[in-house]
Amino acid sequence: MTERTVFLTGAATGIGKGLAEKLDREGWRVFAGYHKTPPDALIEACSPSLHVLECTVSDRDSVTRAAFELEDALAGAPLDLLINNAATTKGAGGGMETVDLEDFHQLFEVNFWGPLRVTQALLPLVRRSSQRRIVMVGSPSQYLTIPLGAQYPISKTAMAKMTEALRIELKPFGIQVTSLEPNGVKTPMTSFEQQERIDLWATFPEHLLGPYQRHFKYPGDVLSASFELWSPERFADVVYEKVIRAKHMKPRYVIGPKAWVLPAIHRWASKAVQERIFEKMFRSS
Ligand SMILES: NC(=O)c1ccc[n+]([C@@H]2O[C@H](COP(=O)([O-])OP(=O)(O)OC[C@H]3O[C@@H](n4cnc5c(N)ncnc54)[C@H](OP(=O)(O)O)[C@@H]3O)[C@@H](O)[C@H]2O)c1
Repeated sequence: MTERTVFLTGAATGIGKGLAEKLDREGWRVFAGYHKTPPDALIEACSPSLHVLECTVSDRDSVTRAAFELEDALAGAPLDLLINNAATTKGAGGGMETVDLEDFHQLFEVNFWGPLRVTQALLPLVRRSSQRRIVMVGSPSQYLTIPLGAQYPISKTAMAKMTEALRIELKPFGIQVTSLEPNGVKTPMTSFEQQERIDLWATFPEHLLGPYQRHFKYPGDVLSASFELWSPERFADVVYEKVIRAKHMKPRYVIGPKAWVLPAIHRWASKAVQERIFEKMFRSS
């Protein structure tokens, strides 16, 4: 059997690293895109066939360079699987009243335009494959409204719609697309550093800081208290069995501890009930 090939973005840390290591162990030829974090730990954990390449998804030139490097390395071989994993929560804290539009725009550059940019750049290589697949790593936060932290779920909601469009548009060409939504994996993104709390409250001018702090909790406290976390390795094992080995990929996979809860609330509770649930979770008065 010929060696199968995969390219992942954001593969130096967290879920991307876990998936890259799993695929490498399963005999795939892994091309791992990284951003600022050096991929040393990934290289150490993988076989010599691992190929790392710098790919900043928010930078058009970087994506173009990565696409050329990948094409060269593949030497005419197809790209069987693209995993758009990179994302950020940087600049995601703060209220809609005062959010810095430049920060919000930058978040979309990484979480929305980035995966679309990478998909456009690499589709010609994916089209060469007879088992063409694209996994868009979304988030079940799209089913939540997080006051003072809505920017990230908004970007992932937009990504979910983009994924649905890609899935239908690419189906006639035999390209399967799915949305993979991790629900609670222990990574830098779910560590909710103290700095993020400081950054969030710093987005409010002095006269609004007190009133907002009186009415709302820091969302990181609420989210971390409700998270039971899987390791990236455990998550990757489940994703490999359920998603990557599936003959036909479903439109959406929510995977992780208590993965059913958020989609169920979204599906079955009325908008008014959902709003009351989110207010109860995130409001302090
Ligand atoms: N962990 C969870 O429970 C959870 C829940 C829902 C969704 N997700 C999704 O899962 C995916 C992986 O997240 P994670 O939890 O593994 O967090 P993570 O370890 O922080 O991974 C995010 C990766 O994206 C990279 N990245 C950030 N900005 C980038 C840019 N401009 N260009 C290219 N790469 C960039 C980061 O690289 P640097 O560190 O070098 O910047 C990092 O390697 C994300 O799409 C996230 O939204 C995770």
